[in-house]
Amino acid sequence: MMDANLTGLKRELLELTTLYEISKALNSSLNLEVTLKSILDVLHKHMGMERGTIALLDERANEISIQVAHGMPPEAMKRGKYKIGEGITGKVVQAGEPIVVPNVGEEPLFLNKTKARGDLSKKNISFICVPIKLENKTVGTLSVDRLFSDSVSFEEDIRLLTIISSMAAQAVKISQMVQREKEALLDENRMLRSELQEKYRFENIVGESKKMQDVYHTVAVVAPTKGTVLLRGESGTGKELIAKAIHYNSTRKDKAFIKFSCAALPETLLESELFGYEKGAFTGAASVKRGRFEAADGGTIFLDEVGDMTLAMQVKFLRVLQEREFERVGGLETLKVDVRLIAATNKDLEAAVREGKFREDLYYRLNVLPIFLPPLRERREDIPLLVYHFIKKFSHENQKDVSDLTKQAWEQVLNYQWPGNVRELENCMERAVIVCQKNPIDVSDLPGPIQNVNTAGVPAQPGQNAGTLPAVVEALERQMIRDTLQKTDGNRRKAAQLLGITERILGYKLKNYPGLYDN
Ligand SMILES: Nc1ncnc2c1ncn2[C@@H]1O[C@H](COP(=O)(O)OP(=O)(O)OP(=O)(O)O)[C@@H](O)[C@H]1O
Ligand SMILES: [Mg+2]
Repeated sequence: MMDANLTGLKRELLELTTLYEISKALNSSLNLEVTLKSILDVLHKHMGMERGTIALLDERANEISIQVAHGMPPEAMKRGKYKIGEGITGKVVQAGEPIVVPNVGEEPLFLNKTKARGDLSKKNISFICVPIKLENKTVGTLSVDRLFSDSVSFEEDIRLLTIISSMAAQAVKISQMVQREKEALLDENRMLRSELQEKYRFENIVGESKKMQDVYHTVAVVAPTKGTVLLRGESGTGKELIAKAIHYNSTRKDKAFIKFSCAALPETLLESELFGYEKGAFTGAASVKRGRFEAADGGTIFLDEVGDMTLAMQVKFLRVLQEREFERVGGLETLKVDVRLIAATNKDLEAAVREGKFREDLYYRLNVLPIFLPPLRERREDIPLLVYHFIKKFSHENQKDVSDLTKQAWEQVLNYQWPGNVRELENCMERAVIVCQKNPIDVSDLPGPIQNVNTAGVPAQPGQNAGTLPAVVEALERQMIRDTLQKTDGNRRKAAQLLGITERILGYKLKNYPGLYDN
């Protein structure tokens, strides 16, 4: 390989340059092939090497094959495959020691598999092969050809190549680590995906009431389409659950499901979160950031609480819905994405449209396939199923052996209004499973408001005589006012209308029931 006339200082300088350049190459790429190839290129450039190869051992295939080569056509490289112990390369891997073949034409062990050297007998080629070792195990070889002459010291070459091979070993190690990490991540992703798919298959949505059957039917119809779905329903009715069910029952199930809440962020952040931004778009935008729409490409984006979007945002949003294209904040390039949209809200969008708070055109764009999720109090027959479902789930999670409620506890649970819907029931059961001392769960294990629920299905107020007619009437009145105000989003005029009383009377009642509506 190395020019035989190189002596003393000059050679030392070249060796240093070689090592310096190789260490630079090692730091410049995480791609193993690129790194190894540059090692060979540097050897050629500074040390006058003719041909060089780096072969690596594939432990599963029990085979050593040439990964990168200098001065060798790709077909020749492909032929360079050796079993352990086969040929010089195989022997070096087997023994973990360097081998020098002073004249390849005279060495029967030299197989010349690659045929890169033409007729060997006519050339004065020496071949030096050193092992690449990682943690005392030989993982490959570094080998070079040189033209031989008497004045060359093989020892010096072996010394240099051994140093270089240990550098190559570091590159192999890093690459193995990166690869392993990537595989672990991919495995984890696959596992999470199948876990998620398991979780959001229909079977895990509990409820057999007519109203839920209708929901399942609609979900089954809309899931395979690309149509925009609008999920409506009070808080805790399962909008997010259904959104996931739609995604995981669609052809997009192996792509991302990206959730995005329109309520949580100020407008400027909302825009950059959704659409991403270019480097330098604003102070602090140090690099390009992909938005949620880009991240959801090929999959589904779930826009939660769409009713809370500002008018300015609605305009931007409308365009994405119409054209499925947008620009990153501060960007000129128009990006196109293939995204299925599912939106959800517990707001009265129609009222918001009438009041000019929600754009009518956007409303129609979103309201393509509406699905209404019924409040729990309108499907009471599902309460037992849900209770058993959650008791089982939380018993398992908390390693407890709880399987039922006492008769009184059932009575309370079945009579309660569940204004927080399934979420409230879920939280209630989790708490009960955790606090209960024995199976079945008793009334005393339930949260206060449910313990005190009276036959009208509403919590009795402390200090009241829970069973008397005035108490029941008052409790019912409170409940109705609260439900109605929730429905109208705190709008008293509308609530009064719905309740069939004047706004003045409602105001008066609210004064009498302090803390009734304090959302
Ligand atoms: N039919 C159901 N079967 C089983 N669990 C349910 C069902 N519906 C809702 N849940 C559970 O109740 C909780 C609340 O559901 P989810 O978050 O989907 O409600 P939401 O309608 O999005 O509420 P919000 O409007 O407050 O965001 C979740 O833990 C969900 O798993
Ligand atoms: Mg939600």
